[in-house]
Amino acid sequence: MPMPPRLRKTALTAHVTTSLGWLGAVAAFLALAIAGLTTTDPDRAHALYLAADLITWTIIVPLALASFATGIIQSLGTSWGLLRHYWVLAKLILTIPATAVLLVHTQPIAVLATSHDALATDLHGLRIQLIADAVAAIIVLLAATVLAVFKPRGMTCYGQRRAQPAAASSR
Ligand code: HEM
Repeated sequence: MPMPPRLRKTALTAHVTTSLGWLGAVAAFLALAIAGLTTTDPDRAHALYLAADLITWTIIVPLALASFATGIIQSLGTSWGLLRHYWVLAKLILTIPATAVLLVHTQPIAVLATSHDALATDLHGLRIQLIADAVAAIIVLLAATVLAVFKPRGMTCYGQRRAQPAAASSR
């Protein structure tokens, strides 16, 4: 059901700020993860991974869930629909695994944050994995932003079927 214009703008503001806030918070996480990999000081590494764990739970996870929820509202509350246009569908397909992977990967972050020696050799792979995850998340979120701004043309079969009766009734 289409939202009235003022409500649509309010919902869009919530969607854009939570989505791009998510992107910015992941960039901050990446900086901490790179600093954690390059430091040779165990105390500094411990502090960096504690900060990474904190921003994951207090900023990244809430913003990811809010971006997802507001994206669904923005789709269902406008004529874009959730499954009518390829660009909206692509954003949905990109965002679901990104959110799922984020939730699964909170575990390795917690392991590093609670470890007494985050620089231990057996945790080296985990420290690299945090960087790879953050880079992958940034690429996915940038792709979602490009799709949202350019809105490439192209309707799904479902979208075309839904558009036909509307076009016929307007003639
Ligand atoms: C479940 C996932 C998502 C869905 C279904 C979705 C859906 C939508 C829809 C339908 C609009 C158009 C709203 C309107 O015109 O009123 C929109 C706008 C937008 N979305 Fe998303 N979105 C999702 C996730 C994201 C993510 C992850 C990002 C970026 C990190 C993002 C960034 C944006 C931006 C920047 C706009 C504003 C574009 C403009 O007005 O020109 N979205 N989204």
